Amino acid sequence: MQNSYKPLRIAGMGYSVPETIITNDDLTKLYDTSDEWIYTRTGIKERRIVSGNESAVDLGFIASQKAIEKAGMKVEDIDCIIAAASAPPQLYPSLACNIQARFGMANHVPAFDMTAACSGLIYSLQVARGLIGSGLYKNILLVAADNNSRLVDWNDRGTSILFGDGAGAMVVTEAEDGIDDVLSLDIRADGSIGQYIYMNMPGKNCPLVEPCDEVDSTIHMAGRDVYKFVVTTLPDFIDECIEESGMSADDIDYLIPHQANQRIIEAMQARLKYPDEKVISNIEYYGNTSAASIPIALVEGVEKGKIKLNSTALLCGFGAGMTWGAAVIRLREGIC
Ligand code: COA
Repeated sequence: MQNSYKPLRIAGMGYSVPETIITNDDLTKLYDTSDEWIYTRTGIKERRIVSGNESAVDLGFIASQKAIEKAGMKVEDIDCIIAAASAPPQLYPSLACNIQARFGMANHVPAFDMTAACSGLIYSLQVARGLIGSGLYKNILLVAADNNSRLVDWNDRGTSILFGDGAGAMVVTEAEDGIDDVLSLDIRADGSIGQYIYMNMPGKNCPLVEPCDEVDSTIHMAGRDVYKFVVTTLPDFIDECIEESGMSADDIDYLIPHQANQRIIEAMQARLKYPDEKVISNIEYYGNTSAASIPIALVEGVEKGKIKLNSTALLCGFGAGMTWGAAVIRLREGIC
């Protein structure tokens, strides 16, 4: 990024998860599986899921309220909302518009969704970096929220074991002290392997023309392909991101990876030669909450004393698309 760009400050963060817990043992009521099978292959013991009419909008709204409060701002200070949602409860109005409405924000605040699946928080941070850097907007609310439990096929034991629901939010603003909290950030995509994880929109052709194939609209995933892709592609990409930050891997205090599979997290940890205390994992309790997983792990890590602020962190995510991204960021005192 050019020096003339305005630096960005991460001002506040928050998260929200549903109350309802579904354990691996609970899943044995749905299909032939076991706690042992799920835990050894994924590191997941339980996940939170929405119930009744609760949705990603409710979770995203609560996470956003917390992030705005931690940023020391008022709702009126926010001048743009970007929501990173894989599959929001409504395609339109967008998740961001739903959250804008819930806050009762003024209509000069643009609100839009940005789909990069589980890489969404890092993607939206890059978009916000451009918008703040160019001076177009000052205080941007980034909100990642998904209710994956409504999108998985609960007969598919290979996929439904992995996902959980949750939301994370981050308020970013122009850094008036001139210190940029994003030391490096890169995002990538490869649509040619989009079939690794996909979700179709339902729909039928006009009855006056030849019908299209019927599709189902649950999450489909080729788990092994995703796994192989991630462990072969991400390590070099992360190395480049670290180099770009001007820091060494050892100098970075924490690795906060997308919580998709404990074995993938451990592969990254081994590559970086990080001790356990530098690696933030809470997949055991939440499963994969899509783009919300990084902010949930970050804020919860601070709350549980695993992360000390006034530090630096390497974030890395990957998801459907395939998309992936990494960032080295500064975690200032008081952000959560
Ligand atoms: N319980 C018991 N058995 C299961 C099962 C479950 N929940 N899910 C699948 N199996 C069975 C399969 O039917 C298969 O049986 P078979 O050999 O008789 O056909 C066997 O276990 C192996 O299945 P496979 O899908 O090859 O397992 P795996 O070792 O690859 O593990 C994942 C599956 C999903 C845990 C693993 O591939 C994974 O985590 N991949 C990464 C996915 C990811 O990160 N996605 C998120 C992207 S954002």
